[in-house]
Amino acid sequence: MASAGAGEGKETAAGSSLHSKTLLKSQPLYQYILESTVFPREPDCLRELRVATATHPMAGMAASPDEVQLLQLLIEILGAKNAIEVGVFTGYSLLATALALPDDGKVSA
Ligand SMILES: C[S@@+](CC[C@H](N)C(=O)[O-])C[C@H]1O[C@@H](n2cnc3c(N)ncnc32)[C@H](O)[C@@H]1O
Repeated sequence: MASAGAGEGKETAAGSSLHSKTLLKSQPLYQYILESTVFPREPDCLRELRVATATHPMAGMAASPDEVQLLQLLIEILGAKNAIEVGVFTGYSLLATALALPDDGKVSA
């Protein structure tokens, strides 16, 4: 299930908590989007946290990687400098938010 980086290992949405979170109801299409677009854009620190979180008994609570990349896009479009995260779990969406904020940005969780 875990991937160590681009080209190393394959992760599948099937059998994980990821597919249940997406708006797309075609599992093969979601898997294609993950592999072609989402995973290659995911920084190593986020990937490592996502993979570690996947072993948690309540892993389904974490935001999905496509979801946090949309969140990051919205943060950048808005030019947000401050963010509040209520409900951190293992910090996946928190870390994604922090990475999308400018250097002088601040995230409170
Ligand atoms: C759906 S999970 C959040 C997932 C997280 N955003 C992520 O992407 O990994 C909800 C989190 O909110 C926490 N939580 C629930 N009620 C809370 C409260 N009243 N105050 C703070 N955190 C709370 C839960 O413990 C859990 O960690």
